[in-house]
Amino acid sequence: MSAPVLTGLSAELDDLSVWPASTARLPGGNLSVGGVSLTDVAERFDTPAYVLDEGEVRARCRTYRAVFPDADVLYAAKAFLSRAMVRWIDEEGLGLDACSAGELELAVTAGFPAARIVLHGNAKSPRDIETALRLGVGRIVVDSPSEIARLAAQVGSGGRQKVMVRVVPGVSAGGHEKIRTGTDGQKFGLSLTDGSAQHAIARVLGQPQLELTGLHCHIGSQITDVKPYLVAVRRMVGLMARIKESHGVTFPELDMGGGHGVAYRAGESALDLTALARRLNGKLSASCAAAGLPVPRLVIEPGRAVAAPAGVAVYRVLAVKPTGSTMFVAVDGGMSDNPRPALYGARYAPRLIGRSTTAEPVATTVVGRHCEAGDILAADVLLPGDVRPGDLLAVPVSGAYQLSMASDYNLVGRPPVVAVHDGSARLLVRRETQEDFRRRDIGA
Ligand code: LLP
Repeated sequence: MSAPVLTGLSAELDDLSVWPASTARLPGGNLSVGGVSLTDVAERFDTPAYVLDEGEVRARCRTYRAVFPDADVLYAAKAFLSRAMVRWIDEEGLGLDACSAGELELAVTAGFPAARIVLHGNAKSPRDIETALRLGVGRIVVDSPSEIARLAAQVGSGGRQKVMVRVVPGVSAGGHEKIRTGTDGQKFGLSLTDGSAQHAIARVLGQPQLELTGLHCHIGSQITDVKPYLVAVRRMVGLMARIKESHGVTFPELDMGGGHGVAYRAGESALDLTALARRLNGKLSASCAAAGLPVPRLVIEPGRAVAAPAGVAVYRVLAVKPTGSTMFVAVDGGMSDNPRPALYGARYAPRLIGRSTTAEPVATTVVGRHCEAGDILAADVLLPGDVRPGDLLAVPVSGAYQLSMASDYNLVGRPPVVAVHDGSARLLVRRETQEDFRRRDIGA
């Protein structure tokens, strides 16, 4: 039985608009990224493999610095972290948003200046806080009332730690319910509407060991519209005005978090960073002027928009299964290296590489090799109708929240990360092996 044939769509399959800017077509249906052929990557490092275009990461950092010249731009480490990434972010002049002792230790031991790191977390462990204080992180973001006294005690008398308070401004935004964090009824931050933010701020101001440098909010992730940020900034300034009234203090900073959306497939919209910068700064200045407040220094925390478009996942096809209604193409990775489709219904656009074909595109569902039916990487996408075992598929926009959320499900092992730049490829993170599994499993 054959799957439905769709005609005239080959051009759509050849669209490279969401790929790294360095992507080039090579003969034989191949592509290069960062001057390196993707089929060469597959041969040299085996599959699945994640390719990270260093030039694309650096260019995205530079765009942020150019578009937000007066802001502190912190890269959100949770999107993807490795020692090389830490170095690139440092060299490009960004700060870092970390949310665990693990992320902190990796960054600082790779040479990142702790003063440019902000520690987040709705449930910071004593070890997280001990690590942050020992390393000397720039800011700790208070997320619940119960951590205020604990943090002050860990800082100790005579010490003083800069902190911010995470506020929930009551703005709903983001690409999926699970990543919307700007309204009440979810676990992050302190509500502006029920008074718990004001209460926490008052308590922080009463702790001599804590220096409150500003307020923070992060309204959600994969946001493609500027407007929710404008509503949020207006409410944050409103709160700052009330704090000035009741406590007589003004803050030098305002952290508006990350969440900047990217296009995963051709034709999708991304957040317009230039428009965001212009309108956010405009709204911030106007709101502060109206409230009689000095304009605080803006802080932003993009993760996805720095890392996602720089990554490409390369898989090999292991099986092809035409069924009554669906053509299944199964690859050698899956939900263990990319849980996003299963978690959020995220949509990707895989592409056949390394072979030219004139076969008509066919609606296909690309699945992984894991033991559950929800292990889908890309449902209902167009691929050439003659895709067969042994072929290579490459998935663009794979640089964020894929490997950082990867698992050892079915002990398949997490893929390597290969940096490509100026025509050369180098291994950043090696493939996980049987030996790694054995070493952790110490019970008899
Ligand atoms: N700042 C804070 C406090 C955050 O919690 C996050 C992301 C960011 C910044 C960066 O957000 P971004 O610019 O990357 O959207 N796993 C989900 C995304 C979870 C985001 C969590 N927080 C996904 O794969 O879509």
